[in-house]
Amino acid sequence: MVKTCILPVAGLGSRFLPATKSIPKEMLVVVDKPLIQYAVEEAKSAGCERFIFVSSQGKGAIEDHFDRLQLLEQTLETRKKYDLLEKIVSNALEPGQAVYIRQPAPLGLGHAILCARHLIDEDSFAVILADDLILSQTPCLKQMSDDYHPEDGNMVATMVVELENVSKYGILTVQSESGLKVRASNVVEKPAAADAPSRSAVIGRYILRTEILDTLSAQTPGAGAEIQLTDAIGRMLPHTPLTGYAYQGERFDCGTKEGWLEANIAFACQDENVYAHLVPMLKRYVNNYNPR
Ligand code: G1P
Repeated sequence: MVKTCILPVAGLGSRFLPATKSIPKEMLVVVDKPLIQYAVEEAKSAGCERFIFVSSQGKGAIEDHFDRLQLLEQTLETRKKYDLLEKIVSNALEPGQAVYIRQPAPLGLGHAILCARHLIDEDSFAVILADDLILSQTPCLKQMSDDYHPEDGNMVATMVVELENVSKYGILTVQSESGLKVRASNVVEKPAAADAPSRSAVIGRYILRTEILDTLSAQTPGAGAEIQLTDAIGRMLPHTPLTGYAYQGERFDCGTKEGWLEANIAFACQDENVYAHLVPMLKRYVNNYNPR
């Protein structure tokens, strides 16, 4: 049902400097794949066929990653490395599937989405924030799109966070809950703990009604002096409902070193060969704690 996925990839990734000086943060690897590939695979699993990357300077590696590379393919073929060949060929996007546009200035997530407004002609579209990596049996966006009904309005993935962390997220005012769906009467971007209406946080998966693009185009800067996607979702209430989706899975904040490290461990545990090495390796380091 949702055919287009917007992938905002314009962020500076300053928390991962110096690594992200010349490597886009979305190209940081978890075990053996860059974050942006996990995001595109998740969008594909939900039925998306078009991928709009909202990019900025220095992000060319993302474009290269989803291209065919003839010389590499020929070399792998000649060397009979068919499993690797299959991995890189299946990852490439087909002609016309990938659209790369620029966000001319870092004016916020809402502004990044607005940059794609001339490219969306369906009733709804998806957004994935690649640094929110989710380990689950069924990919998070697929869980959401399988369960999405137009009366859900704007749908966001949600999880309950610790009170001390509410100021890092969009936070829902929870009105009612039914199964995995949470009906919200409001949403506020990065509230102080004392002002937070709940601990139900927005996680980086969205199915949005296309009218949000009109709302965004008339919007003034909010938290952090940025055009916030959260504010636009809030302003569409009450004529467009807001539904939180308490997806099944575990989310890792790969925008932080701890979250990215933990994601590597969690995803490594999914691979029996790597897992066999991982446990003794971790034990060795834990037993020899030796801070610099
Ligand atoms: C963005 C959104 C926020 C959401 C978060 C999830 O914030 O603005 O509402 O809760 O992603 O990761 P950012 O982390 O880009 O500051």
